[in-house]
Amino acid sequence: MKDLRIGLVGAGGASAMHYQVLSQEPAVRVVGVTDVDAARAGARSRAWGIEPYPDLASLLPHVDAVFVCTPPGHHRGPTVQAAEAGVHVYCEKPMALTLEDADAMIDACQKAGVLLQIGTNFHFLPGYRRLWQLFADGELGDLAACWIRMMNMFPTSGWDDRRQQGHWRMRPEDSGGRLFEQIHLVNWLHWVGGPVESVYGRALSVAKDLPVDDLDLAVFHFRRGYGLAELGLTPTAINEGSAGILGTEGGAVLRGDRLLLRRRDAAHEAEVPLVAVPSRQRHFLDCVRDGRTPETDGVDGRMSLAACLAFMRSAKEDRVVRIEEL
Ligand SMILES: NC(=O)c1ccc[n+]([C@@H]2O[C@H](COP(=O)([O-])OP(=O)(O)OC[C@H]3O[C@@H](n4cnc5c(N)ncnc54)[C@H](O)[C@@H]3O)[C@@H](O)[C@H]2O)c1
Repeated sequence: MKDLRIGLVGAGGASAMHYQVLSQEPAVRVVGVTDVDAARAGARSRAWGIEPYPDLASLLPHVDAVFVCTPPGHHRGPTVQAAEAGVHVYCEKPMALTLEDADAMIDACQKAGVLLQIGTNFHFLPGYRRLWQLFADGELGDLAACWIRMMNMFPTSGWDDRRQQGHWRMRPEDSGGRLFEQIHLVNWLHWVGGPVESVYGRALSVAKDLPVDDLDLAVFHFRRGYGLAELGLTPTAINEGSAGILGTEGGAVLRGDRLLLRRRDAAHEAEVPLVAVPSRQRHFLDCVRDGRTPETDGVDGRMSLAACLAFMRSAKEDRVVRIEEL
C-alpha cells in the first residue's frame, strides 16, 4: 500500500493531537506543517522531524491530504485552496462560523472530487456510537427524546488560562461561542434525531468574568421527537455528564463508559458492552483509500453549524428559530 502523505495546517493543540495519532498509523507519512506563526511551525517541525512550510501553497504539492487545524473563522481559505489543488481535506470543527463559508467549502470539495471530513468526534467514541446504534437498530423504538449534558469544572477546565492569554476561544466573534466549540454535542443529537427543524436556546453567562457564554441550554426539534443539549462550566468542583435516548420501546443512558439499557417490558436495566471503533483519523484515511464519503462529511458539518446558528439567534431573540429561516 502506497503511503498517504499528510500535511498539517496550523501548529496548535488540534494539530498536535492529530500528529500523535497519524504518526502511529501504518502507510501514512506526515510530511510537513504550516502556520501563519512561522516560529510555531518551526518548533513543531523540529519536535516531530517533519518539514516546516512557509505557506499552504508550498505544502500542497507534497501531500495527498491536509488536516486543517486553524481557528474556526479560518477554515474556509485553506479548505478551498487545498480542494482546488486536488488535495483531500480533514477540517476541524466547527467547519465554519457562517453557512456561506460552509457552502463554499462543500462546493469546492465536490467540484474538485476530493473528500471533506469535519472533525466532530462523537461518531468515533465507543459509548456514544453504541448508544446511537441501539436506536438506529430499532431497539428503542421511535424517538421521544434524546439528551446530552456536559458540565465541566471551572476554572480548571483551561478556560481561565485562555482568558489570560486573550485566546481566540475567548472572543465570541472568533469562536462562535461555547456551543460552537462543543459542537460535538449538537452533532451527536442530530445523528440520533435526524435533521434539526427548529431550535430554542438560552446562552447565559454565569461565571460573570468570562467574555463568552458559559451555560448553554438548547432544545432541538426534529421531525419526530426532540433533543436537549446542556453545556456548562460549573463554578463548583464537579464534572457531570451523560447522554441518553428515550424511545417508545425502551431507554438507554451513557454515563462515562457505562451504557445501560432498559427495554419497555424488562424489569431491570442491563449493561451493554462497548466495542472499539476506529478513530476519526483512521476513518478519514480509510475513506480516502476506498473513495468513500466520510460519515461526518461537509453536509453533516453544515447541519451542526446551522443548528448552532439557530441556537444563537434563538438565545438572542428569545424565540423558537426554524432552520429554514437562516
Ligand atoms: N476535534 C477536537 O477534539 C478538537 C480539539 C481541539 C481543537 N479543535 C479545533 O481545532 C481548531 C484549532 O484549535 P486549536 O486548539 O489547535 O487552536 P490553537 O490556537 O492551539 O492553534 C491554531 C493555530 O492555527 C494557526 N493559524 C491561524 N490562522 C491560520 C492560517 N490561516 N493558516 C495557518 N495557520 C493558521 C495559529 O497561529 C495557531 O498556531 C479549532 O477549530 C478547534 O475548535 C478540535
